[in-house]
This record gives sequence, structure tokens and C-alpha cells, in this order.
Amino acid sequence: MTLRPLFLYALCGSLRQVSTSRKLLEALRLGCPEDITIEICDLIGDLPIFNPDNEGERTPAIVEEFAGNIRKADGLIVSCPEYAHGIPGGFKNALDWLVSRDEIPFKPLMFAHASHRGDLVLEQLAEVLRTMSLRIVSEAFLRLPIAGKSDELQAEILSGARDDGLLSASLSRFADAISAEG
Ligand SMILES: Cc1cc2nc3c(=O)[nH]c(=O)nc-3n(C[C@H](O)[C@H](O)[C@H](O)COP(=O)(O)O)c2cc1C
Repeated sequence: MTLRPLFLYALCGSLRQVSTSRKLLEALRLGCPEDITIEICDLIGDLPIFNPDNEGERTPAIVEEFAGNIRKADGLIVSCPEYAHGIPGGFKNALDWLVSRDEIPFKPLMFAHASHRGDLVLEQLAEVLRTMSLRIVSEAFLRLPIAGKSDELQAEILSGARDDGLLSASLSRFADAISAEG
């Protein structure tokens, strides 16, 4: 169990309305232990294209809002599909805005993966995020393959995982790792 209430900010790499990555984050949000609050970021699709000329005093307000939410978070949850063996452009763009800022270093992060495939994107994200000095909590990794399944089956798998405590178990491992670091 966690020692204090935690706020987790969830980042989805897919902008699709019926994104399975997003559905997994929603299920985590609804199934999380009482002492954890999860907010799913809705800003990624509206971020302008990163340009280092627009950092510092010229940083757009929406980027400040995004970075401010990350600053407040005790940890991040990333759920991201694989596009052409890599990171979807919109998600990489969001990460690029954070590279030179101070919100990200040492922030704990867990992956929640909604596909039975997509291991290349997990590898690439790990490389990018480690380069940005995030702390990936590998023992909290959650894979729940719902991609490519019917809506009904997706809902069944997600509610089964919730009832079986799979979702809260991952979150508790993440919370324990965060709390252990103080
Ligand atoms: C442009 C594009 C490229 C894709 N490339 C890959 C790929 O290289 N490897 C893979 O496993 N799936 C690939 N897919 C499939 C998606 O990763 C998969 O459908 C994923 O579950 C979508 O996530 P979402 O439901 O959260 O949007 C691709 C999908 C799109 C739209």
C-alpha cells in the first residue's frame, strides 16, 4: 500500500476517439486504489509543433499547462501505440517540448500497453524517456492486449482485469516504487 495519496498523470500516445490505449488508461483511472488519483492528459493533440525558438519566454500557454500538470504529478503513466515501428509523431512532439525543461528528470513512469504487439515502440520509448532522465518503473509494467478486439470483448477484458485486481496491482507496485523514493 502507498504511504500517501498520489496523483498520477496519464499520457496517451493515440489521439483516436476509440483508442484502445486510452481505454486502458480510463480503466486504470476507474480501477485505481483509493489513495491514487489519475488524470488523463487531453492536451497532447493541441500542442503546437515543437520549435526550440519557442521555448523560454516564448513558450506557448498550452505547453506551460502541460508541463505544469507534469510538475504536479507524483508519476506518469504512458500508453502508446506503435506507428511504423516507432513513436507516433504527436506523442514524440509532446515529449520534445519537455526535453529541456526541469519537470521531467527523475519523474517515475510506468507503461500500460494495450496491444499484444508494439514491442518496438516500447523499446524506443524507453530509450527516449531514459535519455530524458525519467525513471521507468519496470515492475509496474502492465500489458493488457485489447487492440484489434471487438468493443464488447475489450470491455469484458478490461472489467475482468479490474475485478481480478490486475490493474490495481500494477498501480500499487508503481505507487510503492514512488513512495520508496520518498
Ligand atoms: C499509421 C499507423 C501505423 C501503424 N504501425 C504499426 C506498427 O508498426 N506495428 C504495430 O504493431 N502496429 C501498428 N499499427 C497498429 C496500431 O499500433 C494499433 O492499431 C494500435 O492498437 C492502435 O492504438 P490505439 O487503439 O490506442 O489507437 C499502426 C497503426 C497506424 C494507424
